[in-house]
This record gives sequence, structure tokens and C-alpha cells, in this order.
Amino acid sequence: MARRVRQNAGFLLGGVAGALLLIVLLAEGREALHARGPMTGGHEDIACDACHRPAPGSLRQQLQANARYALGLRSSPADFGLQRADSAQCLACHDFPEDRHPVFRFVEPRFRKAREALHPESCISCHLEHRGVRVSLESIDFCEHCHEDTRLKKDPLDVSHEQLIEAGEWQSCLGCHDFHGNHVMTESRKIGEVIAPGTIRAYFGTASSPYSAQKRFEPRREPTP
Ligand code: HEC
Ligand code: HEC
Ligand code: HEC
Ligand code: HEC
Ligand code: HEC
Repeated sequence: MARRVRQNAGFLLGGVAGALLLIVLLAEGREALHARGPMTGGHEDIACDACHRPAPGSLRQQLQANARYALGLRSSPADFGLQRADSAQCLACHDFPEDRHPVFRFVEPRFRKAREALHPESCISCHLEHRGVRVSLESIDFCEHCHEDTRLKKDPLDVSHEQLIEAGEWQSCLGCHDFHGNHVMTESRKIGEVIAPGTIRAYFGTASSPYSAQKRFEPRREPTP
């Protein structure tokens, strides 16, 4: 009998905690949706589930799993409604066949230090969403993590790559090169023609491309299945 009461009390407590948790989770969920900032330019009309796959399980199962987590009966929270976005979803629309810096390349062991500093193996390290920007990186000089040994056999520049790198002029790189190599353009050979860092920062935000309006590959509007 005593056991039965305890069980019922436990059940009741679970029910109340569960109901409270439900309210908190729903409020948080709504908050999160409202707190999302503006989309990256061009993504305004893209459906949520093009980037966030529906999480496994029904809503009830997700709630139960999260209730168990809140009560210490589960080690991690369950994805709620939508899964986190990752590179696979980006690539389903942005599959540049000739990307000079493809993400998959950077899982190689020799990029371990760059991975720790920058995580170039994931699109989202550089392109956070819901912030209304094109590139979310703070720095424009991150080439440093991989190009310290870059030397050209016959360097065409008036100030050579070797000299630029020795002087630590990492801000100059994006002044002549785009990152993915997807803009139709010819790189300048004169250090006097380098695009100013401020212009590149503005392009990381919402300003139009200083490289060229023309691209080699345009993204798909619908993901490949
Ligand atoms: C173009 C891809 C894309 C689309 C479309 C998109 N998101 Fe996101 N979303 C992301 C990325 C990338 C992140 C992680 C960014 C970060 O950590 O700030 C994210 C983060 C979130 C988060 C924070 C939790 C998390 O998983 O990190 C929520 C909530 C969210 N998105 C909801 C939505 C909703 C709702 C929609 C539709 C109105 C939507 N998103 C559309 C890419 C997208
Ligand atoms: C459903 C297809 C789709 C998905 C998924 C998608 N994009 Fe896009 N993306 C587009 C389209 C379409 C544009 C607009 C291109 C334009 O207007 O020229 C765009 C624009 C962009 C731009 C701005 C391009 C520019 O030149 O201004 C960036 C950066 C970008 N996407 C990165 C991402 C990243 C990172 C992800 C994954 C989190 C992602 N996209 C997911 C289709 C997609
Ligand atoms: C290490 C940082 C980094 C990573 C990782 C990265 N990008 Fe970028 N991305 C940039 C920078 C910097 C620019 C601006 C220079 C340019 O336009 O090439 C850019 C520009 C873009 C643009 C706009 C220019 C264009 O070519 O259309 C798109 C779209 C884009 N990235 C998509 C992606 C996708 C998709 C992934 C993952 C497959 C990805 N990026 C991974 C740094 C990164
Ligand atoms: C995570 C490492 C990494 C980062 C960060 C990085 N690169 Fe590279 N980059 C590479 C690798 C690897 C190659 C290919 C070199 C090879 O094939 O020998 C390359 C090639 C290039 C090429 C030559 C492409 C070609 O077609 O020959 C240019 C130009 C370039 N990078 C510019 C940049 C610029 C500018 C930045 C900074 C905005 C940058 N890279 C940041 C790793 C990186
Ligand atoms: C004044 C413009 C300019 C600046 C600044 C510049 N580059 Fe270059 N870069 C070029 C040109 C031009 C080429 C040769 C392109 C060709 O041969 O098609 C080149 C070639 C390259 C290559 C290809 C090398 C190869 O083996 O073919 C890499 C990698 C590279 N640059 C990286 C960088 C990095 C990293 C920085 C910053 C330290 C940088 N560049 C700064 C104009 C510039």
C-alpha cells in the first residue's frame, strides 16, 4: 500500500514536472524561432527542412526523451522538432564541382592544426545562419592557417607571395583571390590594386561581391534528393 502511494506520488510528480517541462520547452521553442535573426541573402525563401531535417521520433517521443533528460534519466537532450543543419544539406544545393577549398579535403590528418583553429571541414564554421550575413567569420586573414609555405615557381606579382607571407600580409590574400574560386574573375598582379580589407568585411556582411557578379556555378533552389 505504502509502495503504491509512493508510486502514485512519483507518477504525479513526474506528471507535474513533465507538464511544466512541456510548457518551458514549448516556450523555449517559440522563443528560439522568434529569436532567429535574418537569413543569409538568397535564403529567405528556403524551407526550414531544407537545412534542418525533421528530428527522429514523433513529437511525443521527443518530449518524453527530453523529460527523461531533465529528470536525469537520460544523458543527453533529444533534438526537438528539427535537427541541426550541417554541410550535407548545404552541399545538396551548393555543390561547386571545382571548389578549390572543398570541405571534405580538410578531414585529412595534415590539416589537424587548421581544424582545431578554424574547422574548415564544415561549412557552418564560416557560414552561420540566421545572422543576415554571407560569411560569419570575424577574420579575413585565416589563410594563414594553411598557406605559410605557399611559394610560386614564377611569381607574377610585383610584391611576391613569399614577400607578402614573410611580412605577415594575410589581409591581402582575399584582396586578390576569392575563397571558393567560384567567381568569374582574373586575379590582379599589382599590390596597388588589392581590394581594401573594409570592402571585404562589408562583403562578408551584405554588400555585393567586389570580385565579380558572375559565377561559375549557381546554387540549386531545391536540394538534390
Ligand atoms: C539555409 C539553411 C537554413 C535554413 C533554411 C534554416 N536554418 Fe536554422 N540554422 C541553420 C544553421 C546553419 C544553424 C546553426 C547556426 C548557429 O549555430 O547559429 C541554424 C540554427 C537554428 C536554430 C538554433 C538551434 C540549432 O540547431 O543550432 C534554430 C531553432 C533554427 N535554426 C530554426 C530554423 C527555422 C524555424 C527555420 C525556418 C524558418 C530555419 N532554421 C531555417 C541553417 C538554416
Ligand atoms: C535549397 C537549396 C539551398 C540550401 C539547402 C542552402 N542554400 Fe545557400 N543559397 C541557395 C540559393 C538559391 C542562394 C541564392 C543565390 C543567389 O541569389 O545568387 C543561396 C545563397 C547562399 C549564400 C550567399 C551567396 C552570395 O553570393 O551572396 C551563401 C554564403 C550560402 N548560400 C551558403 C549556404 C550554406 C552554408 C548552407 C548550409 C547551411 C546553404 N547555403 C544551404 C540555395 C541553398
Ligand atoms: C574556412 C571558411 C569557409 C568554409 C569552411 C566555407 N566557406 Fe563559403 N565562403 C568563405 C569565404 C571567406 C567566402 C567569401 C569569398 C568568396 O566569395 O569566395 C565564402 C563564400 C561563399 C559563397 C558565396 C560565393 C559563391 O561562390 O557563390 C557561398 C555560396 C559559400 N561560400 C558556400 C559555402 C558552402 C556550401 C560551404 C561548405 C560546403 C562553404 N561555403 C564552406 C569561407 C568559407
Ligand atoms: C584549411 C586550409 C586552407 C585554408 C584556411 C586556405 N587554404 Fe587555400 N588551399 C588549401 C589547399 C590544400 C589548396 C590546394 C593546394 C594544392 O593542391 O597543392 C589551396 C589552394 C589555394 C589556391 C590555389 C588554387 C588553385 O586552383 O591552384 C589559392 C589561390 C588559395 N588556396 C587561396 C587561399 C586564400 C586566399 C585563403 C584565405 C582566404 C586560403 N586559401 C585559405 C588550403 C587552405
Ligand atoms: C596582388 C594580388 C594577389 C595577392 C595580394 C595574393 N595573390 Fe595569390 N595569386 C595571385 C596571382 C595573379 C596568382 C597566379 C594565378 C595564376 O597563375 O593563374 C596567384 C596564385 C596563388 C596561388 C596558386 C599557387 C600555385 O601553385 O599555382 C596560391 C595558393 C595563392 N596565390 C595564395 C595566396 C595567398 C595565401 C595570399 C596572401 C598571402 C595571396 N595569394 C595574395 C594574386 C595575388
